[in-house]
Amino acid sequence: MNKRIKVILLAAIASLSVVGCSSSKGNEARVMRVAHNQGEEHPIHLALKEFEKIVEDKTNNEIDIQVYPNELLGGQRESVELTQTGAIDIAVGSISLLESFNKSYSVFNLPYLFNSKEHYHSVMNDKDIMGDIYESTRESGFVGLTWFDAGSRNMYTTDKPVMKPEDLKGKKIRVQQSQTNIRMMELLGGSATPMSFGEVYTALQQKVIDGAENNELALTNNKHGEVAKYYSYNQHGMIPDILIMNAKLLDNLSEEHRNIILDAANEINKFQVDAWEDKVSEAVEQSKKMGVKFYYPDTEPFKEKVLPLHREMTENDKEVKVIYDKIQAKAPTSK
Ligand code: GCU
Repeated sequence: MNKRIKVILLAAIASLSVVGCSSSKGNEARVMRVAHNQGEEHPIHLALKEFEKIVEDKTNNEIDIQVYPNELLGGQRESVELTQTGAIDIAVGSISLLESFNKSYSVFNLPYLFNSKEHYHSVMNDKDIMGDIYESTRESGFVGLTWFDAGSRNMYTTDKPVMKPEDLKGKKIRVQQSQTNIRMMELLGGSATPMSFGEVYTALQQKVIDGAENNELALTNNKHGEVAKYYSYNQHGMIPDILIMNAKLLDNLSEEHRNIILDAANEINKFQVDAWEDKVSEAVEQSKKMGVKFYYPDTEPFKEKVLPLHREMTENDKEVKVIYDKIQAKAPTSK
């Protein structure tokens, strides 16, 4: 993070903390700040407001949850870094971003890793797989609590639809700040342009980039559909978000409060996942009204280009291979 921005952010967060302590919820309340980069209509925000309600009720307001949407406490990378140090208590991080904090997360960034939504959800709900991965960043200062659905990621562009990998040639496509995503875009033939989510709208508008890749909510909640009118379902990724928490804070809570936090995280996972499909349908309808057109290219040519990445990532890394194999073993066809 740029040093100047970090100083400004830390000063802003410190001043928020004072306000929090003297809140109407009482001087005794332990304020916990939760940061994310989505808008207030997004299912992640709605789920976190639910988290706030559950935790405050169950702790009789001894914990005061404060949710900051819209990158108010910084972009996703900054909020994860601030959660490492404890300047922020809880944050949401895409698995794409988390791979730079522990390599076990990188597997989930492999394109076409899951062969269906059922496969994806069964892995994310499998505590034997996810438990260790959530703990893998403990030494870096944070742990995972639960996951949020982020649907499937597809290409969208400002000038013409992407119907085959060749259409990406010479195009600057925004990807998340992740080595695996950058490599994926290289294999597809596009020019990978990593940047924070909050910068994408302006970059599209100012033609700094020709497109991006994301789920349908980016078109509406983040207004990308105002400038990018061609959305192609090449379905290269299903990359969830993880709710993370500063590890020391979680460990130092009383057992009662820790259990309340962990149970509430499980509850809002169900709430968010249940809300997801409806939100996607709404986003598609709304996008059509904005003039966005949806395309359904053959996914095989895309797969052919990027499947070598599976071997590249797993062949020299036993630990990563173990996770990869566990995920493959859960694919419905291998049963
Ligand atoms: C999705 C995801 C976010 C992520 C964003 C991105 O919206 O839910 O966590 O930051 O994609 O592409 O950066």
